[in-house]
Amino acid sequence: MEGWQGWDDYAPFYDWENARTVGCRDIRFWQGLAERCGGPVLELGCGTGRVSVPVARSVDDVVGLDRSDAMLRQARRRVRRGRVDGSLRLVRGDVRSLPFLAASRFQLVMAPYGVLQSLLRDRDMRATMTSVLGVLRRGGTFAIDLVPDLQSWREYDRRVSLRGRRRGGATRISLIESVRQDRAKRLTIFDQEFVERRGRARTTHRFSLVFRTLSVRQMTGRLRRAGFTIEAVSGDYRGGAWHPEADTWIVLARKPR
Ligand SMILES: C[S@@+](CC[C@H](N)C(=O)[O-])C[C@H]1O[C@@H](n2cnc3c(N)ncnc32)[C@H](O)[C@@H]1O
Repeated sequence: MEGWQGWDDYAPFYDWENARTVGCRDIRFWQGLAERCGGPVLELGCGTGRVSVPVARSVDDVVGLDRSDAMLRQARRRVRRGRVDGSLRLVRGDVRSLPFLAASRFQLVMAPYGVLQSLLRDRDMRATMTSVLGVLRRGGTFAIDLVPDLQSWREYDRRVSLRGRRRGGATRISLIESVRQDRAKRLTIFDQEFVERRGRARTTHRFSLVFRTLSVRQMTGRLRRAGFTIEAVSGDYRGGAWHPEADTWIVLARKPR
């Protein structure tokens, strides 16, 4: 299993599901950070542009990078709708290897909404941190948002976790989800089944996504070993103190001057 797998299949459903879960609650945080740091800004794993597009309204010169073609197609649509073509460039690539971006020298590299949890092995994490260090300016910021403690989720089998309609449409969607844990490897596996119904027609899409969750302590330790200094660790999008039950785990790291 690889953490980059499954996203092509998820792409048509990603915005539908996330409008009902994370929504926009992190957007103001990323816009504020980008305004303070200034451009150029790179988003690792930009997906459908949920974060990159609003950030490109706040600062010029944003690059969104993702490995999934299907996610990037959704992002291109959002770019056209949001009319940010001039300030946002979308690039297909892998977060573990960014040398082709080195000439850009980013002021801020963002890893929102658990993107780094798609890295399933330590060598993938090391390669990504080294790559980010290579494309950041001296003094530049690497900002990471982790989905807390996936490891503590209880396992369940084929639960209907969401139901609804596509916006304004006649298509009804249900998400039937199972969660499995491989605690020794710190992996959480989501088996997803999206069922679309339109009139009497029914289509089923099945795929799995795998995430590896490091603790905040493990993450900051790895960042320090890679050559970053840790600026802040917070537990919400307003800069509140981090604690083990915090809503989100945000780490701000800096490349030394
Ligand atoms: C949880 S989504 C986050 C999307 C977006 N950042 C957001 O906040 O909505 C994770 C994204 O990371 C991408 N991804 C996973 N592994 C990757 C890798 N090794 N290189 C590049 N992109 C990757 C996936 O294709 C997916 O679009």
